[in-house]
Amino acid sequence: MPISYDHERGLFTIDTDRSTYQMMVDGYGYLMHLYYGAKSSGSMDWLLSFVDRGLSANPYDAGTDRTYSLDFLPQEFPVQGTGDHRSPMLILRDSNGTFGCDLRFRRYEIQKGKYALKGLPAVYADAPDDAETLRIVLGNDRTGVEVELLYGVLPHLDIITRSSVITNGGKGRITVEKLGSACLDFVAGDFDVITFHGRHTLEMQKERMRTPHGTLMLGSRRGYSSHQYNPFFILADHGTTETAGRCWSMQFVYSGGFRAEIEHDQYDQTRIQMGMADEKFSYPLDPGESLTAPEVIMSFSRNGLQDLSHDLHKCIREHVCRGKYRDVPRTVIINSWEACYFRFTGDKLLDLAQKAKDLGMEMLVLDDGWFGDRRDDYRALGDWYANEEKLGMTLGELVKGVNDIGLKFGIWIEPEMISEDSDLYREHPDWAMAIPNDKPVLGRNQLVLDFSRKEVVDTIYEQICAVLDQGNIEYMKWDCNRSINDVYSYTASDQGKVMYDYVLGLYDMLGRLNDRYPDMLIEGCSGGGGRFDCGMLYYTPQIWASDNSDAIDRLVIQYGLSYGYPACTVGAHVSACPNHQTGRVTPIMTRTIVALSGTFGYELDPDKIPEEEKQGIRKGIDLYKKYERLVHNGLYYRLSDAGTDRYTAWEFASEDGTEALVLMVVPENHGNAPTIYVTPRGLTSGAEYKDEETGTVYSADALMDAGFPTPVVDDDRESFMFHLVRL
Ligand code: GLA
Repeated sequence: MPISYDHERGLFTIDTDRSTYQMMVDGYGYLMHLYYGAKSSGSMDWLLSFVDRGLSANPYDAGTDRTYSLDFLPQEFPVQGTGDHRSPMLILRDSNGTFGCDLRFRRYEIQKGKYALKGLPAVYADAPDDAETLRIVLGNDRTGVEVELLYGVLPHLDIITRSSVITNGGKGRITVEKLGSACLDFVAGDFDVITFHGRHTLEMQKERMRTPHGTLMLGSRRGYSSHQYNPFFILADHGTTETAGRCWSMQFVYSGGFRAEIEHDQYDQTRIQMGMADEKFSYPLDPGESLTAPEVIMSFSRNGLQDLSHDLHKCIREHVCRGKYRDVPRTVIINSWEACYFRFTGDKLLDLAQKAKDLGMEMLVLDDGWFGDRRDDYRALGDWYANEEKLGMTLGELVKGVNDIGLKFGIWIEPEMISEDSDLYREHPDWAMAIPNDKPVLGRNQLVLDFSRKEVVDTIYEQICAVLDQGNIEYMKWDCNRSINDVYSYTASDQGKVMYDYVLGLYDMLGRLNDRYPDMLIEGCSGGGGRFDCGMLYYTPQIWASDNSDAIDRLVIQYGLSYGYPACTVGAHVSACPNHQTGRVTPIMTRTIVALSGTFGYELDPDKIPEEEKQGIRKGIDLYKKYERLVHNGLYYRLSDAGTDRYTAWEFASEDGTEALVLMVVPENHGNAPTIYVTPRGLTSGAEYKDEETGTVYSADALMDAGFPTPVVDDDRESFMFHLVRL
């Protein structure tokens, strides 16, 4: 049993195959965090150190014992107002406006299977035996508040999830000012934190820094998880590498604003936590009402970052992504955006479809510009009916035409948005989020629909179903191209609820679309990777990783994503050169191997590319087909530090060790450069491998030790591909 409770010592222990997590109810009823690390046994209560420290407050119950203080003891769910002056998980005000809530242990329950969360996405387990759930209830007598702490464990993947539900069991209204989802207290350690920051068209830039004294805060106040910081970070021992050393991660299963904190305190202790953004959030609960914190996925590895990523990849691929497309190969897309932007007719699209078909592509995705009066990005969001005048045909005729050519059909929609210049806005101005009697903040000249209102979600849902029902539409790109600035809902009982309820509305609609169109693949998108998170992946098993389709920039973006997300979730296309975002010219094969390391497709006009690139496309599609399963299901290895090293190399190896695909790009060539040796990992020790192209036979152990020499590099941005097959 992965979860156990030792009544005598008050010890809760969660074991995974390679880690142990332990907490303890102490003599005062506080829930102490004891340990999260390498698999261990027995009580770890000896980790607690009790010292009389000046100016660290003591709970009244401790009497004259000045060595007991929540100011420095490690806690499982730290709450404001208990003498702990580090950053809390919960800030609560009672009906008098008084802060503070002293929570003590009340009861617990252990169940088979993985808990689910009301209205929110969460890790799931198909078979009850694959997971276990622990519920620990803490309570406060003065306010009547109860907090249920939820722990889910997938023991074979070394994954522990956390969430909590706060319930007002008292008589007056309470207000939740901050509710975190997961917290870890480390009593000692010299840590680095690894974060992933970025911007539109350059997401997921990895940064590693030593934790400073004070609090390092990252997050999003934008109402969506954001390009600026991904809701994922890693804490690692200072010396941790890809293959050695301890590391822990937190990853949010939520698509709204978030807050992650890494706090290094006065006694060199470290607290990390993750939860919803607490700005513009103030959630009142009347007696009997509850609020659920979104889930955090945690993992631990004692063998470096590689194992941590492998566990996270499997967890997300098999226990977050759902539906048919979790498992089946994705089709090769041609997307109309970089091919023609807003400039197309139905005939032009049919021509694009025919040319794409001739090159071996499988689905035409009609991007922005097909609806209402959408001539440019200044208008028409919300008018989800096809512009038949522009198309010169109905949407149904276009879909049929594309299908007749032999391609599937997909469509772009931005359901959460509304343009002031739209019929929808003229009819329902109050559906847009804007502060009454004030001018709204515009983003891409559009406003955000109030998805915290059910009637808004219902109407947009009906409109979108009406579009999807016009033909055999097998894919939808769900975009979201601005942040939420003006938090105001005309119907909300309290504006402090809107940011959270908005995200529930988003999930409600996505869930309904999943149920109604189980064969339709939804790709998430938010100006590229602005909402690349596990909350979206629960509904949309792939996400367009960046509006930057330049292969060289993508090396670093996709490398950043690889720490937390499997390749099968990473939307990646080959686009035309010079690249539309960077002006860079890159060989077609380099563009191909970068894109086939994600969900593959094209974003170009075949009429405008040279003949030899067309050959490259045919070859690229064959390569994608050949390696798609290996990329989707294989173990991913980072073989160099993208953006820092002279070359970027990565590998997909089958779990059984029968084959490995090693890919390498040299962004910049130099005169008389040293030979690059690439050292693969994950091969079967004792076995021999053959390079499929050259026929060279290698011993796996020497290969994983010394590496193999790669060919002389002739040009900037050259790439290489090595398929190693076990003999
Ligand atoms: C966003 C997306 C792009 C494209 C445009 C269309 O920027 O990320 O891929 O769909 O919108 O307006």
